[in-house]
Amino acid sequence: MNPRTVVVTGAGRGIGRAIALELAHHGFDVIGTVRSDESGAALESAVARTGAAVRTVLLDVADPTSCVRGFTRIATMTGGGPWAVVNNAGFAQPGAVEDVDDEQVRRQLETNLVAPARIARLVLPAMRDRGSGRIVNVSSIAGRVSLPMLGWYCASKRGLESVTDALRMETAPFGVKVTLIEPGSYGTGIWRTGAELLPDERASAYTEQYAAAGRRLRGARELPGPRPVAMAVRRALTARHPLPRYLVGGGARSTAVLDAVTPTAASDLAKQLATGLRGAPPRVTRAVARLRGR
Ligand SMILES: NC(=O)c1ccc[n+]([C@@H]2O[C@H](COP(=O)([O-])OP(=O)(O)OC[C@H]3O[C@@H](n4cnc5c(N)ncnc54)[C@H](OP(=O)(O)O)[C@@H]3O)[C@@H](O)[C@H]2O)c1
Repeated sequence: MNPRTVVVTGAGRGIGRAIALELAHHGFDVIGTVRSDESGAALESAVARTGAAVRTVLLDVADPTSCVRGFTRIATMTGGGPWAVVNNAGFAQPGAVEDVDDEQVRRQLETNLVAPARIARLVLPAMRDRGSGRIVNVSSIAGRVSLPMLGWYCASKRGLESVTDALRMETAPFGVKVTLIEPGSYGTGIWRTGAELLPDERASAYTEQYAAAGRRLRGARELPGPRPVAMAVRRALTARHPLPRYLVGGGARSTAVLDAVTPTAASDLAKQLATGLRGAPPRVTRAVARLRGR
C-alpha cells in the first residue's frame, strides 16, 4: 500500500476535481471516483495537463453494489485499501420540506449521509489492521445552520456531522483520524443541479420563493472557485493532528458565529427575509426608503 493513496469520491467536477488536483500536485497518489467513463477521461486529462496524474474508478455512491465493487477494485489497485478517503460526492435537494417527496428525501440522505458511512465501513477494517488511516467528510455550513427551502440538504449534512463526530471518537483508538470540512458557498455545478431539482412551483404554496430561488441558484456562477476547500482537505490529510472540523471561507465562519450568538427568533427572521418568506417589517422598509432617499 502506498502510504499516500487517497480516494476522492465525486472527483469528476466541482470541489471533488479541485481536491484531486490539489492532492495530486502535492505528491498524493489520487484515485478519483466518477460516474461515467467520459467523466473519468476528462478528469485524467485535466490533471495530466497540469503535469500530475490521477487514476479513476467508476462508482455511484448511492448504489451499495457499486460501492462494494468500486472499493474491491480499489483494494486491488492499492494492495489492500487506501490510506485515506475523502467523501465528497453529494448534491443539494432544494425545496420546502413539504414539497420534497419521500423518494427525493431518500436519494438526498442516501447520497450525502448513508453513503459516506457505508464507504467508511468498507475501508475501516484495513485501516484498523494497519493502525493508520484518514477519513475526510465534506459537509457544509448547512450542516451547522439550517436554512428554509434547503431543509433536506441541511438535514443530510447535519446527520453527516453527527455520524462523523461519533466515528471520530470510535476510530481514534485504532489510529484512524476523521475530519469534517464545512465549506461556505463556492462556484460549482451544485447550484445548476439544484435549480434543476426545484419542485414544481405550480403545485406549491411557495411559487414566489421558488422563482426567487431559481434566480439565486442560476446567479451562483459568480461565486469564488473551490480551491480553498481543496486546500482545507490537504491540511486535514497532512496535519499530524488534524482538527475535528475545518470551516472554509469567511462567509462560513461569520455565519457559524452569528448563528451561534443570535437568538433563534432573530435568525429565523433574517433567513425568512433572505429567502422571501417574509417581507421586511414596515419600520425597516421605511428606514431603508429614507436611507435610499438621502
Ligand atoms: N459548492 C458549494 O458551495 C458547496 C458548499 C458546501 C458543501 N459542498 C459539498 O461539496 C460536495 C461537492 O459538491 P460540488 O459543489 O462540487 O458539486 P458539483 O459540482 O455538483 O459536484 C458534485 C460531484 O458529486 C458527484 N456525485 C453526485 N451524486 C453522486 C453519486 N450518487 N455517486 C457518485 N458521485 C456523485 C457528481 O458526479 P457527476 O459528475 O457524475 O454528477 C460530481 O462529481 C458536496 O458534498 C456538497 O454538498 C458544496
